[in-house]
Amino acid sequence: MKILSGIQPSGQLHIGNYFGMMQTMIAHMESDELYVFIVDLHALTSVHDPARLATGTLEAAADFLALGLDPDKCIFWVQSDVPEVCELTWVLSTLAPMGLIERCHSYKDKVAKGVSASHGLFSYPVLMAADILLYQAEQVPVGKDQKQHLEVARDLAIKFNNQYGETFVVPEPAISETMAIVPGIDGQKMSKSYGNTIPIFLEGKQLKKRVMAIETDATPVEAPKDPDNCNLYKILRLFAAPARMQEIHDLYINGGAAYGYLKLELLDLLNDKFGKAKKKKQEYLSDPAMLRAILAGGAEKAREKAAATLDLVRS
Ligand code: ADP
Ligand code: TRP
Repeated sequence: MKILSGIQPSGQLHIGNYFGMMQTMIAHMESDELYVFIVDLHALTSVHDPARLATGTLEAAADFLALGLDPDKCIFWVQSDVPEVCELTWVLSTLAPMGLIERCHSYKDKVAKGVSASHGLFSYPVLMAADILLYQAEQVPVGKDQKQHLEVARDLAIKFNNQYGETFVVPEPAISETMAIVPGIDGQKMSKSYGNTIPIFLEGKQLKKRVMAIETDATPVEAPKDPDNCNLYKILRLFAAPARMQEIHDLYINGGAAYGYLKLELLDLLNDKFGKAKKKKQEYLSDPAMLRAILAGGAEKAREKAAATLDLVRS
């Protein structure tokens, strides 16, 4: 199966990105035709500092590779290295009904969070549809926040096929309901643009500070608490072994859950899970020329696929 997904290099990648998308993508590496890319054109809607965008792009690449993505077993590239995507975006935008794009909530959500209201931000879902359709992806693993954007991609594929004849594969979303939305330290969706993340590769004191800042209520230790309304519990659930999670669950229900203690436990679990990969990331970052070469090799392969689809579209 052809599986594709992308991530914005607009800040440090975080555990929401990991559980929402990266982990699933890496798991598909052995069995599927895998397309993974860093969507720098999308990130331009919120990052206007060239140095930050360049560093973010290389860091995101190092993150993926450190976590186990093997560039020989997938196509791994940077979106803007395949300019064909911009041409397809335009063609799709001539078919995209205004109402469909106006209904997308991420535009309003981002503007409400202070991202400037540009035309690029508004038409973001059309560029994303072009990303998906250009490679004829069959399945797109994403977090739940991207579900609506996938519906736009499906609608535009169907519309194009009806108008001009069968051209595009209609992609299916692949959203894991258990991992659907990882909360941030403030309880809202964890997002690079909201400043509420736990970055995957944060180190030592900075990581501890972030974990200790997870917002919890003021219920005393001995009082019963509702696990489903607790941010810390929802994050712990992603890391703790099932038997330990059952014990923690019982402490919430019966009283005895000490937030400070549980935060330190989470800190250990984070270090256990990502400790080894942290070193690998530093190795990749110490050789930016090698990183660039890996991405350039991926872009070459991606471009070949993109050109074939665009030929069909033009004809
Ligand atoms: P961000 O909101 O941090 O900028 P992106 O929009 O780049 O993240 O998302 C990259 C991938 O990670 C997408 O598949 C998205 O659905 C997923 N993702 C982002 N935040 C979360 C989250 N809090 N929980 C689950 N998945 C997430
Ligand atoms: N919009 C996605 C996000 O913010 C990133 C993205 C861009 C993407 N193009 C894509 C995801 C294509 C999947 C497929 O998370």
